[in-house]
Amino acid sequence: RRSSVEALLTSQELDREVLVKGWVRTRRGNKYVQFIAVNDGSTINNLQVVADAEKFPEETLKDVTTGSCIAVRGKLVASQGKGQATEVQALEIEVLGKADPETYPLQKKGHSLEFLREIAHLRPRTNTFGAVLRLRHALAFGIHQYFNDRGFFYVHTPIITGSDAEGAGQMFRVTTLPDQNPPLNDAGQVDYSEDFFGKATNLTVSGQLEGELAAMALGQVYTFGPTFRAENSNTARHLAEFWMIEPEMAFYDLQDNMDLAEDFLRYLVRYALEKCPADLQFLNDQYDKELLNRLRFVIDNDFQRLTYTEAVDILKTAKQKFEFPVDWGTDLQSEHERYLVEKHFKKPVILTNYPKDIKAFYMKLDEDGRTVRAMDVLFPGIGEIIGGSQREEDLEKLRGRMQEMHVPEDELWWYLDTRRFGAAPHSGFGLGFERLVLFVTGMTNIRDVIPFPRFPKNAEF
Ligand code: 4AD
Ligand code: MG
Repeated sequence: RRSSVEALLTSQELDREVLVKGWVRTRRGNKYVQFIAVNDGSTINNLQVVADAEKFPEETLKDVTTGSCIAVRGKLVASQGKGQATEVQALEIEVLGKADPETYPLQKKGHSLEFLREIAHLRPRTNTFGAVLRLRHALAFGIHQYFNDRGFFYVHTPIITGSDAEGAGQMFRVTTLPDQNPPLNDAGQVDYSEDFFGKATNLTVSGQLEGELAAMALGQVYTFGPTFRAENSNTARHLAEFWMIEPEMAFYDLQDNMDLAEDFLRYLVRYALEKCPADLQFLNDQYDKELLNRLRFVIDNDFQRLTYTEAVDILKTAKQKFEFPVDWGTDLQSEHERYLVEKHFKKPVILTNYPKDIKAFYMKLDEDGRTVRAMDVLFPGIGEIIGGSQREEDLEKLRGRMQEMHVPEDELWWYLDTRRFGAAPHSGFGLGFERLVLFVTGMTNIRDVIPFPRFPKNAEF
């Protein structure tokens, strides 16, 4: 049976025969001995395979090139070399899959992240993407662990929906109607009554509304699934397809919601540090020498909480000149968010009680009638990582907000039913998974923390 590289590098049982399979990172050596660095994805570290040139002449090793896949039977021994405790003395080497050095795009030298984006199908074989993908996995696992330990239930919300959960109109249509000559109604528009579902449908922008229904039955729930936004934001923080975690809790007010969000984020950062120390050390050394310090800082320090109105006052008197003006009632730009987090407070910030006109229809109105019980969690280098709120549970107030914001009631009759039957105060939030991975890995472009990024004019692979 094959052992993983991770298991062999940390094994205490030496001088035994082992079998290892993986991809060759490099081969070097001289006419006496060859060193083959093998990686099988289980860890950032490579296993050194030592091949005696007498037993393995160049002729037998010629296909053991960077990128090829090999199986090695050999003896696990203590390593003479620095940087690793063990290595394997080869007894038998089999090439499972060749990789022509003339055409294999990943060579020994480092490649730029931009170049790697163009070969997204191969980039998991690099140290950087191996580390990012293992962290992505660990964080996903940690998210389920966190909620499971606290009595939350994982609910699966639909990906194809007939409504717009955020009311922002940023949806991708799902249709089986033909491109050529689709059926038209009397007004000359596409007639979706002839479509697969008998109505117009879209990819979901958020599982929140269905999550709210589940919370009104199971108490505390969360979703964790793909969400889609057809916003034309060609930035390093936006994807057209991203994963979102949306907890929703009955009987939580905005304070409880903030406490949960803060505890959750700190737990996840701690979880990554505990589960992926080698990957984080690599990313820290390779890209961003402040990464580990920044992660430890988040664990050790409370987030700063203040209202939107207080934040606007701070921004208006800031010495820094902003590209966009700050005025009560307008949405904050990322330069404003980053000023608050990185320059003013120098720690994560939770902003609350935003003007109602710049937030979604479902947020609970404050007593002043001008602001809502919203909260955005802002992180250094990222800006908004979480958006959430206490929900409006009062049927008439909610209907009023929907009318004001032109959200069609007939699409959401089922949502309104939760306010008709056994309504309860409740709250929730959405964490953008890739923004979390971005923060934890210290990468700077969101396209580098998801295997196959979707963004405007790009759906390759
Ligand atoms: O603030 P948003 O739009 O909130 C919602 O969707 C609510 N339904 C959440 C809730 O209360 N249940 O999105 C939530 C988070 C953002 O804070 C951000 O981290 C992430 O989702 N996000 C994106 N991530 C990547 N690319 C995009 N285009 C994103 N849009 C939002
Ligand atoms: Mg938001």
